[in-house]
Amino acid sequence: MVRSRLSKRYVRLLPLLVLVLYILCMGYRHQRTSNVRPVIKNNKNNGNDYLSSIKSASDSDSGSRTWQKDEIVGLLSSNHIDLGANVDIQYLDMNQLVITNLGIKKCHYLATKFERCSKTSMKGLSQPNLKGHTNEHDIKKDIRGSFGFDWFGKSEYLYFDTITVGSLLQSQINEFYVLTDVTDESTPGKGQIAFKVYDLYFIFQKYSLKQLLDSGNNNGNHHFVSNVNVLFGTDCKDPRKDWTLYKSKPLSNHFKFPSYMSLERAPLVKPPGYSDPRTKILLPDGKDLKIVQLADLHMGVGENKCIDEFPTTENCHADPKTFKFINTVLDIEQPDLVVFTGDQIMGDRSIQDSESTLLKVVAPVIERQIPWAMVWGNHDDEGSLTRWELSELVYNLPFSLFKFSPFDTRDNSFGVGNYIQQVYNKSNPDDVLMTFYFMDSHKYSKTGKLYPGYDWIKEKQWDYIKDVYETNLYKDIPTDKPHISMAFFHIPLPEYLDVDSKKRPGEQNTLVGSFKEGVTAPKYNSGGLKILDDLGVQVTSCGHDHCNDYCLQTDSARNPIWVCFGGGAGEGGYAGYGGTERRIRMYDINPRNGNIYTWKRLNGSPNDKFDQQQL
Ligand SMILES: *[C@@H]1O[C@H](CO)[C@@H](O)[C@H](O)[C@H]1NC(C)=O
Repeated sequence: MVRSRLSKRYVRLLPLLVLVLYILCMGYRHQRTSNVRPVIKNNKNNGNDYLSSIKSASDSDSGSRTWQKDEIVGLLSSNHIDLGANVDIQYLDMNQLVITNLGIKKCHYLATKFERCSKTSMKGLSQPNLKGHTNEHDIKKDIRGSFGFDWFGKSEYLYFDTITVGSLLQSQINEFYVLTDVTDESTPGKGQIAFKVYDLYFIFQKYSLKQLLDSGNNNGNHHFVSNVNVLFGTDCKDPRKDWTLYKSKPLSNHFKFPSYMSLERAPLVKPPGYSDPRTKILLPDGKDLKIVQLADLHMGVGENKCIDEFPTTENCHADPKTFKFINTVLDIEQPDLVVFTGDQIMGDRSIQDSESTLLKVVAPVIERQIPWAMVWGNHDDEGSLTRWELSELVYNLPFSLFKFSPFDTRDNSFGVGNYIQQVYNKSNPDDVLMTFYFMDSHKYSKTGKLYPGYDWIKEKQWDYIKDVYETNLYKDIPTDKPHISMAFFHIPLPEYLDVDSKKRPGEQNTLVGSFKEGVTAPKYNSGGLKILDDLGVQVTSCGHDHCNDYCLQTDSARNPIWVCFGGGAGEGGYAGYGGTERRIRMYDINPRNGNIYTWKRLNGSPNDKFDQQQL
């Protein structure tokens, strides 16, 4: 009896075993690196040498190289192309990509280790003269939304072929088809071919080298597409410079989430600073600096379910409800700076594509042209992108203040995104008015036996900001007028627990707001508060505990310091503790007298301030 039952079990497993063997034999390990990720560009504007040394994998893959002006002039003349006197040839981007082919790769996968793929190529778009000059790129995002969710199954990816403008000129290929648009219907015009990929038509247009260079320069109309990407979810957005999301029809609506095409049309002539316009916060005379802190948005791909909604409503969709709240508060407050203090991305709801989540998270702020800073929480990097990959993406987004420290590494040992931003006087940009520190507080303790729970900002991170302060910042900070410094990070410091005064035994420190849940500060104290005090930081603000939203004046350092929570803003994160409505915290800093005010607003009554106090 036992034997026959066993063998029956084996018979049931047979198809799986066959599949496993098939994939093991035929499969190859699919590289999880995409060629279409943004590249960190050499930052010439703010003299940060370190950034020029960071190289993304895509840099070498796409054949990027430096072109001398003489070389470009020579190539143009050997191709008989005259761009006219209005075009500054030295800013012609010879590494700009044009897209010469696009199609689907259909794959079988086993766990996240093995994938075997076959290409379906487009008939009729054979461009033999380009052979050997093009590069193939995979958009490593499974259109089906199955990869990463199941143990085995089918996945599908878009791939495309590119050639650089430089290679087209070098190889003197004078006629070719390049991608110029996507549309709902097949209506190719003169000199065009339309290909159907899933439910959209991709329009390829015949170009000569001269037409390409004319249409791509600053005065042209940017007809050709320089990069493509796929985003997921009906609420996806693409706020990146030069990118347009094609929203009239999904690429495919048959799988887990609808997919949409986003197309980049960058000009071929890019004046200095075009690709990397770093934002600086400039405060006009007579104005206070207003900050909106967005804590724990917990967004994912698609609209997502509400968690612990309070008060409850019918038909709650988490991310749309959170966005409505954010948009309302941004319109009321009109801040000069927005700070995201971690867990903006719910990783396990972004397994299909963290990029889709991140881009929609920052869209309301970028649309309003507000400078913004971001630190990472413990959930952001649990989706399709690592902390480092998310950071590269964020570094390159419009109005982003995000920076890497010279010690940030891909292994996260120092955290990723430890940086300092200062606010300058608009009438006198050498005049530094305020200093903000942004720190990566890591995730979970790596010494769980000794210090269970959450990790902490390491001593070497504190040493780093102290060093920057002592060697650099210190001398720019005027001593004859008030200077406000604040620090932002995700996980609270141990001093967030200082309800009892250290200096006045038996007395309590001032606390404004709700203390509803156990503070999840690390069990280990890495001495950060003392260093922040040495740097003159008066206020810290964090996230992580969704149901604590207080400001507490701790007296455990030399000077009193306010340690504050932002309060959870996202409907997709936990709440509870007797019912907690989502909230957003504001700061208002007056640079003339050094006063700092803070207050909060609730999702259900955003027009009313509450817990307003002077810090
Ligand atoms: C900004 O600079 C102007 C011009 O130098 C000066 O009058 C003003 O007081 C400065 N503002 C602050 C807040 O220091």
